[in-house]
Amino acid sequence: MSIPTEQKLMIRALKGETLERPPYWLMRQAGRYLPEYRELRKTAPNFLDFCYNPDLAVEVTLQPLRRYHMDAAILFSDILVIPDALGQNVQFFEGEGPVLDAIQSLDDIKKLNPENITGHLSPVFEILKRLRAEIPEETALIGFAGSPWTIAVYMIEGRGGTDHSKVLDWADNRTENFQVLMDMLVDATSEYLVRQVESGAEIIQLFDSWAGVLNKEQFQRWSIEPTRRIVAQLRDRCPGVPVIGFPRNAGPLTKDYVAKTGVDGVSLDQDMSLEWIAETLQPMCTVQGNLDNQVLITGGKELDQATIKILSALSGGPFIFNLGHGVLPQTSADHVARVSELVRGWPKTAIASSDEIR
Ligand code: CP3
Repeated sequence: MSIPTEQKLMIRALKGETLERPPYWLMRQAGRYLPEYRELRKTAPNFLDFCYNPDLAVEVTLQPLRRYHMDAAILFSDILVIPDALGQNVQFFEGEGPVLDAIQSLDDIKKLNPENITGHLSPVFEILKRLRAEIPEETALIGFAGSPWTIAVYMIEGRGGTDHSKVLDWADNRTENFQVLMDMLVDATSEYLVRQVESGAEIIQLFDSWAGVLNKEQFQRWSIEPTRRIVAQLRDRCPGVPVIGFPRNAGPLTKDYVAKTGVDGVSLDQDMSLEWIAETLQPMCTVQGNLDNQVLITGGKELDQATIKILSALSGGPFIFNLGHGVLPQTSADHVARVSELVRGWPKTAIASSDEIR
């Protein structure tokens, strides 16, 4: 018997409850910082094969939960399974990240095949079904996808970390063709997420990792609007399933994002001020974040102070503790254990460490 979804801490927080001890999970909680992950990863050199192997993907999803008892498990997969399922060539190279055969023309878009997305991604649904049976009963299961803008960045630039000039040229000057791609991504992503929920996901997170590249007008059209359409489809077809949006580096535009997309929660990067989050965003929706992943590497007193500062600032409203971006590979597993201890011991940890913080 598992605890009903609505009683899990993550869901209660996302429905707007202020909890005495906030739930927590960490972006990239499964990954190379864990020796047991690296061990298993060796058995599948091709990262996408690893993601599509239910035995391996279920096991690596569970690894961080055994050590740190997060309140949520996040499906082990990647946002780039969508371009892969559409038929674009996607590869992951050690130390280099993902590389795709970049889309160059409308013809390249027309060659993509949105018909068999859910067939291609059927291993993901199998992974979610198994996870729902295997995670601890109080743990919530998060499914996810990339937001269309961020996926389009990878599809057109061919990789992350570029100057984004190609994708911005499509958005600004080849707008009609770009819209064709974005519409395809909105539909494919919506369908994919509905199937994730039907397979057991209790929460959906949408990652818009490259939202910060866009100016106000571009952000409205290419981040907010596609996200709003996906959220609307989920509301319609999976009523009650909470959605968390992550418009990374969107700064003050995050307020517009929350107001217009209809998300239940917003995930915030480490550059957002805690005062602004508490005053402006928290009255609008549940907030999630925003410990600096570099401070998680540093550890020690700095980590304790930063963690407690966030807990103190945001525990007065609906809140989920998390990082501002994913756990980095060079992070010490002990530092993650310390964060788990501080968050799960809240609010007692506040009193215990108040002397040191002052
Ligand atoms: O634990 C979890 O958070 C779940 C799994 C997950 C992965 N990627 C696994 C992964 C999730 C939610 C993602 C999302 C993702 N993937 C995003 C959005 C969040 C963000 O980080 O901004 C993006 C932009 C990607 C694309 C991607 N995948 C990049 C840029 C990289 C290379 C960087 C790196 O750390 O190597 C990946 C690879 C990747 N995705 C790894 C993992 C565990 C590392 C692969 C390995 O084992 O070598």
